[in-house]
Formats: sequence, structure tokens, C-alpha cells
Amino acid sequence: MTTSRALIIAVDGPAASGKGTIAARLARTYGLPHLDTGLLYRAVGLGVLDAGGDLDDAAAAEAVARSLDVSLLSDETRLTTGEAGEAASRIAGYPGVRAALLKLQQDFAGQAGGAVLDGRDIGTVIAPDAVAKLFVTATPETRATRRWKQLTARGDAIAYEDMLADIVRRDERDAGRGAAPMVQAEDAVLLDTTDLDIEAAFDAARRIVEAARANHGL
Ligand code: C5P
Repeated sequence: MTTSRALIIAVDGPAASGKGTIAARLARTYGLPHLDTGLLYRAVGLGVLDAGGDLDDAAAAEAVARSLDVSLLSDETRLTTGEAGEAASRIAGYPGVRAALLKLQQDFAGQAGGAVLDGRDIGTVIAPDAVAKLFVTATPETRATRRWKQLTARGDAIAYEDMLADIVRRDERDAGRGAAPMVQAEDAVLLDTTDLDIEAAFDAARRIVEAARANHGL
């Protein structure tokens, strides 16, 4: 028997896999609110740096996470820098930081009409009961090229080789940590975007969500 429930869509995957764009477009398509959970970790990382703190100091990062200044979340330009991404992945392994950000994310996922969240642990930890779970990936080289184009288009100076090294280091850190490591949920559908442009990737994502909705009688 199927029970009717809210349409929660969990989109996980590594940096620059296309998960953010896919999640945003799914949210528009289904008229759902969208949370890019990476922004929370980025805001905490930058909050530590802004306070003159040390990213190796777990207690300092947890304190920032507990009193997260949500106005920081609107500063998209700063939050999407390589510096913010690196800071985020360094503090994201602290269990206290993850615990401090848990309720906010679960409340967002629990909204009456449903929600789309993207991150690393949405399908495994934040919303294990999500109706649709996608794990979006692509080769490190493809992801580095995409991120390099984005950053250089807006004037950030970074060499492709450094970008690739950053991506590989971040993957290792995110997948290797003890607390909520980046891993495909058992019931998530893998979507490899290496050879797909954004339209094709989005079409594939929508088909996965439609199949999941049909499965749940939604
Ligand atoms: O997705 P994005 O690149 O913005 O994430 C930045 C960093 O935040 C990731 O490398 C990861 O360490 C952390 N993160 C996380 N769990 C999430 C979202 C992001 O650990 N749900």
C-alpha cells in the first residue's frame, strides 16, 4: 500500500557535478522551495575566518554554526568563492558543526508541501525518507573544467590544474570523513552528467523524480 506524503527531493553529489543547477530547476518545475545546504557550511567556514578563527578549531566552528548569521547566506558572490568552498569542507567534518545545522535542514525538508535540498548527506542523514533521491556525479576532470569556467568567467584567477587538485582533495575529504561522509544512499539513483549538457542532465533528473513519484503514488 502506498501512503501519500510530501514530495521531498534529495540531490547529493560532489562539487561541480551539476547537482545545484539540477536541484534549482527541479524546485522551479515542481513549485517547491530549494535549499543549497552547501551554503550553510560555506557560511560557517567564512564566519570562522571573519572572526579571525582557525579552521582546525572544531569548537570555534561549532560556535559559529550554533549562532549562524543567516544574513551571510545572501552574500552569494562571497559564498561561492574557492576560499569559501575550501573552508566549508574543512569544518564540515566536525560532528558538532553538522549537529548544529541538522534541525534547520530537517525543518526545511519537513515543510508541508515538500522541498528540494542539495548537498552531500541529504538522502542519507537529513531526509532518509525522501520520495526521490539522486546522486549526481561526473569525472573530476569534467567537474574541474566546469568550475574553472564559472570562476574565470567572473574574474577569479585560478589555474585549471589547481582547480582539479582542489576538487580531488575536496572529494577525498568529503568521502573520507567519519561524520556523514559523502556516499550514495542505497536507494538513490546515480546520474552521471559527464557527457550530458545541462538540458540533458535536467531531463534525466526529471525522469528519475517522475518514476519515484509514480512509485509513491504522488
Ligand atoms: O556543495 P558545496 O560545494 O557548496 O559544499 C561545500 C562543502 O560543504 C562541501 O565540500 C562539503 O564539505 C560541505 N557540505 C557537507 N554537507 C552538505 C553540503 C555541503 O558536508 N550537505
